[in-house]
Amino acid sequence: MKEKIRIEGGLELQGSVRTEGAKNACLPIMAAALLCEGQVVLNDIPALNDVMFMCSVLTSLGAQVEYLPAEKRLIIDSTRLTSTEAPYSLIRKMRASFLVIGPLLAREGKARVSLPGGCAIGIRPIDLHLKGLKAMGAEVVIGHGYIETVTDRLRGERVYLDFPSVGATENIMMAGALAEGATVIENAAEEPEVVDLARFINAMGGRVVGAGTDTIRIHGVSRLSSTEYTVIPDRIEAGTFMVAAAITGGEITVENVIPTHIVPLIAKLKEAGCDVIEEESLIHIRRNGQIRAVDIKTLPYPGFPTDLQSQMMVLLTLARGTSVISETVFENRFMHIDELRRMGAQIKIEGHTAVVTGREKIFGAPVKATDLRAGAALVLAGLAAQGRTEVDCIHHIDRGYLNFTEKLAALGAKISRSE
Ligand code: UD1
Repeated sequence: MKEKIRIEGGLELQGSVRTEGAKNACLPIMAAALLCEGQVVLNDIPALNDVMFMCSVLTSLGAQVEYLPAEKRLIIDSTRLTSTEAPYSLIRKMRASFLVIGPLLAREGKARVSLPGGCAIGIRPIDLHLKGLKAMGAEVVIGHGYIETVTDRLRGERVYLDFPSVGATENIMMAGALAEGATVIENAAEEPEVVDLARFINAMGGRVVGAGTDTIRIHGVSRLSSTEYTVIPDRIEAGTFMVAAAITGGEITVENVIPTHIVPLIAKLKEAGCDVIEEESLIHIRRNGQIRAVDIKTLPYPGFPTDLQSQMMVLLTLARGTSVISETVFENRFMHIDELRRMGAQIKIEGHTAVVTGREKIFGAPVKATDLRAGAALVLAGLAAQGRTEVDCIHHIDRGYLNFTEKLAALGAKISRSE
């Protein structure tokens, strides 16, 4: 059955919406559960396709995994692992499953993991992950589409990342958690999800300091043990709803959000003419008159997140004036532009820069999601467009948004899933 999302555009959103636990915090934390000789209980874990997929990766390695959907609770017991191999059939479906290489190597002294291969939003190499693991004493052999790594015991080392990669920082942090001595990651990623992973490792008895800055120091310990942990809220989901309110001219409250995690989005929405009021774990947002053009440049945290670039672009297609959007994190993250043009958006691409000429209206059309965030952006475009929009290939959206259509419908959108 091939489902689509159908939207009748033009309605303002009103009301409250609660965000889920962060997908990009859940996935590395689930991988880190492999480090634990015992059971971990994880709270606020949404039943997303990517999360369920990571459950199957952990199960294939021998972990006991139980998900309680009503409680949004995940229980993982990695006391006995039975495999150190993550085959192509698993890695191919979700790149983030490559995050198991660090914990497997640290815990079992070896790992055989498929190369992740290409990805719709860019080449996404893994050289920095491997640079770290090699520096820590792992032998790494690449052949037949696989990476085989082996070590007696990882040793702490200084690792400088040429780019503050989120995944490389996380993999090296997990490897360092059980290494001998101290591992120092320089030019580390500072994303809130990296900090959440560090806090989880510490909750298991690890010794990670400096997460959230560009230098993270991990003092290896001999074992990590059982704990219970609640993941942070999803800043990208929260941001997507905030842009949805702005785009439709509505007024909504986003609950379960940490405002300091989305400072650049709040700043840009205010520049564009929205009223944004922050409370401890709430954000109220209201559009105030016509949207004004703003320029955006995606950067590693605390810069503007690449995962909100496509959503903001949709907003700016309806702004007064011309906006310039530069994508510096991924090389191929403008795939939504062709689809937006089919809805009447005026966007020119020059290398890594998109020039968006705002116009008064865009129009509903059949469009296709090309990746997770691009898919969400097309739904937002549908909410603002005149007439009906049908978004195809919505399995991309299901990877990262739980009950997306239901949540938007509860805010007043005319939206449904259909065959
Ligand atoms: C994570 C997020 C993703 C987000 C991205 C950037 C998860 C599961 N996914 O992806 O949603 O868009 O951070 O915020 O958390 N790079 C290298 N060599 C490497 C690793 C990365 O050159 O070894 C490059 C990539 O090609 C890319 C850039 O670094 O251009 C950013 O990638 P990275 O920060 O690693 O993103 P992910 O961890 O894959």
